[in-house]
Amino acid sequence: KTMRTLLLLVLFCCHTRVGTSSDSTSQKNCENEQSLGALLTKLLTLAEKQTALEIKVSANRPKVAFSASLEGGQNGPFNTATTLVYKNVITNVGNAYNSATGIFTAPQKGVYMFIYHNVVFAAHSSTMSLFKNALKIVSTVEWKSEHDGIDSGSNGVMLLLEQGDQVYIQLWKDSWVYDDANNFTTFSGTLLFPL
Ligand SMILES: *[C@@H]1O[C@H](CO)[C@@H](O)[C@H](O)[C@H]1NC(C)=O
Repeated sequence: KTMRTLLLLVLFCCHTRVGTSSDSTSQKNCENEQSLGALLTKLLTLAEKQTALEIKVSANRPKVAFSASLEGGQNGPFNTATTLVYKNVITNVGNAYNSATGIFTAPQKGVYMFIYHNVVFAAHSSTMSLFKNALKIVSTVEWKSEHDGIDSGSNGVMLLLEQGDQVYIQLWKDSWVYDDANNFTTFSGTLLFPL
């Protein structure tokens, strides 16, 4: 907008100058300024169109990001591998994470990043895995020991997902994991870029 005002000012000055002079050189200069002005106007219009287009493209890009914490004090042990339901939703832009099931469902094909972090009382063992559909992808492990009070573990992974692929965390059989209102034990994910 400032550029446009400046341009109009230059053209206006040019006209005023020509109006008060009969000199042919200054008339020629003025014509040059005018064609330059026309060119600049075209350039500005193009730049404005491009900015509008970029805003439109960015608005159309899907926005997917979630973080949730587990809650519930001691979770486990269970006598079979159990999907953890991270109930306390911290962020869920795009609603791809379901806090009733603990399952993230990819809304579209793309590369996604996932991170999970867990806290375990040291008197217990804990093994957890991140799954893509039925496939175990990455895991964390803690063996019980009498020497400290609390252990923690994390893992993360970039995954190429198709639309509808599901990602979730499973606590292995006979494992423990802990969380309370401090949000120690969390599961997060985001779409890095669509494909
Ligand atoms: C746990 O997460 C909630 C958001 O769901 C937040 O309000 C709260 O402050 C967090 N607690 C701590 C101790 O960070």
